[in-house]
Amino acid sequence: MKTLEQLGDESTTVIWGDALAALDAHVPDRSVDLLFADPPYNIGKRFGNTHDRWPSDEAYFKWCREWLTRCLAKLKPTGSAYVMASTQCMPYFDLFLRERLTILSRIVWSYDSSGVQARRYFGSMYEPILFGVADAKDYTFNADAIKVQARTGAVRKLIDYRKAVPAPYNDEKVPGNVWTIPRVRYRMDEYEDHPSQKPEALIERIIKASSNPGDTVLDPFSGTFTTCAVAKRLGRKSIGIEIEEQFVKVGLRRLDLAREWRGEALKPLDKTYERKNGVSARVQATRQTEALFEAAQ
Ligand SMILES: C[S@@+](CC[C@H](N)C(=O)[O-])C[C@H]1O[C@@H](n2cnc3c(N)ncnc32)[C@H](O)[C@@H]1O
Repeated sequence: MKTLEQLGDESTTVIWGDALAALDAHVPDRSVDLLFADPPYNIGKRFGNTHDRWPSDEAYFKWCREWLTRCLAKLKPTGSAYVMASTQCMPYFDLFLRERLTILSRIVWSYDSSGVQARRYFGSMYEPILFGVADAKDYTFNADAIKVQARTGAVRKLIDYRKAVPAPYNDEKVPGNVWTIPRVRYRMDEYEDHPSQKPEALIERIIKASSNPGDTVLDPFSGTFTTCAVAKRLGRKSIGIEIEEQFVKVGLRRLDLAREWRGEALKPLDKTYERKNGVSARVQATRQTEALFEAAQ
């Protein structure tokens, strides 16, 4: 894969190419406030022409060490990193990253099942996300920007007698480390044709918490460019890298950076709601992909 092309505008950079080469060529060291990395998981998914399966765990981890090391070099001394991995690989990522960052949270993204229930084991209903910072004494965390409704005493209008001066329970709180956010479904407006698109709500919480307007967010495995799209909406700069041309095209369109690509008009996904046995053909296909993914997790 030789292509390495930088596109976009002054606030949103889209790089078509391999993450290692792109990080070396296009991202200065110590220039990034927030890293969000959602790499291929080594579980056999197909992303366009790329097949997500390394010959061995060691080969996969060797590659992960290479991109993680590069990404960490790009972080500012006040920077933060959120790294996703499959449940089976996350322990390795954790061991590697805890030597290089201060890990502040081990987040569980908990989601609804695809409807296909495991019968002979406990089906996978979550993906892990590691949150670490370069300097535990100096990092961005905008607690007020991400508060959620506190469901305990405040809803019942109870008084908290643990306080020196008893007062009503707070009705808002910083979310804990289990985040229940639905996966991206075909009928959602944000849906693109990609096997592991992440929800905007998930990325929004990360970007709001760990960056400020004008900061730079880096996503070395951009897929449908969810991170860049949310960064743009929230007034952050972003750099997104993606190896597959078909997803770069999605990104350019989603980010409103181009209307055409090499003579081809970039059009939104043409969704079909044709139904078979009460379920649309596209939903059936999506369910099959999700079931495969869950079984592999
Ligand atoms: C898990 S997906 C990311 C999904 C993304 N977070 C989203 O919301 O759409 C991983 C992406 O990494 C891309 N990829 C795989 N190998 C790559 C490489 N060496 N350099 C850059 N991108 C790569 C795949 O094509 C895939 O789109």
